[in-house]
Amino acid sequence: MKVNVLLSPLNADELYFSGKTSVVIDVLRATSVIINALGNGAKEIIPVNTVDFAMKVSGNAFGGQTLLGGERNTKKIEGFALGNSPREYDEDTVKGKSIILYTTNGSKAIVRAKFSDNLFICSFGNLNALAEHLANINKDIVIVCSGANGMFCIEDTVCAGKLISEMQKHNEEIELSDSSLASVVLNKSFGKSLIKMLSQTEHGKILIENGYEDDLKICAKLNSHDIIPYYDSGVIKLQKTESEKSVESAK
Ligand code: MLT
Repeated sequence: MKVNVLLSPLNADELYFSGKTSVVIDVLRATSVIINALGNGAKEIIPVNTVDFAMKVSGNAFGGQTLLGGERNTKKIEGFALGNSPREYDEDTVKGKSIILYTTNGSKAIVRAKFSDNLFICSFGNLNALAEHLANINKDIVIVCSGANGMFCIEDTVCAGKLISEMQKHNEEIELSDSSLASVVLNKSFGKSLIKMLSQTEHGKILIENGYEDDLKICAKLNSHDIIPYYDSGVIKLQKTESEKSVESAK
């Protein structure tokens, strides 16, 4: 089993993902929002790569049970119900809802990887559940760091490194590319205090300046939800975890 890390989604075009098993990470904050929303009972997330498309989809699809969420320059977009703060995606707000999500980097990275054979979503919030699942399915993996406007960012790479280190606990045979090895090393230096790491990053500092300091605490929380979000045909839903599967097979 080989693992590669794309330090920016722009390192690959859409067709590169065909036939791949991919994982998209955007710790600050798109994939943390997705983990929180699905963990709090949202029915599904529909990631989109333009605001126009978000508006179009919300008008006529998904039985009217949709909420528009996301951000531009970290702020809620005019006409949207929700911004991109994981705190907004609580159970009362999202339970049973289809959420159309547009964000500057994260939702676009997911859409870019849409031709993957298997496409999973990761943040610190679901890291262990996903690592165990990936180690068990034993396929080559591409981890996509959403980054910042095509550039490298520390927080997504630390999360990729932590995911790989956790996978190695389940499978010692994993072959690492140079970028995977670099991610593991970065996690060893920066991954001990996640909140400290997030507050030192460029995007973390912008979020603090814009009044979203509390979001960093939620995004830094490890394993708050034991879930595996899986993208299929334009929609992200939950896949069963290993523990749920073993409970079912024991019945
Ligand atoms: C993004 O996709 O760029 C982020 O989620 C931005 C943010 O909301 O902080």
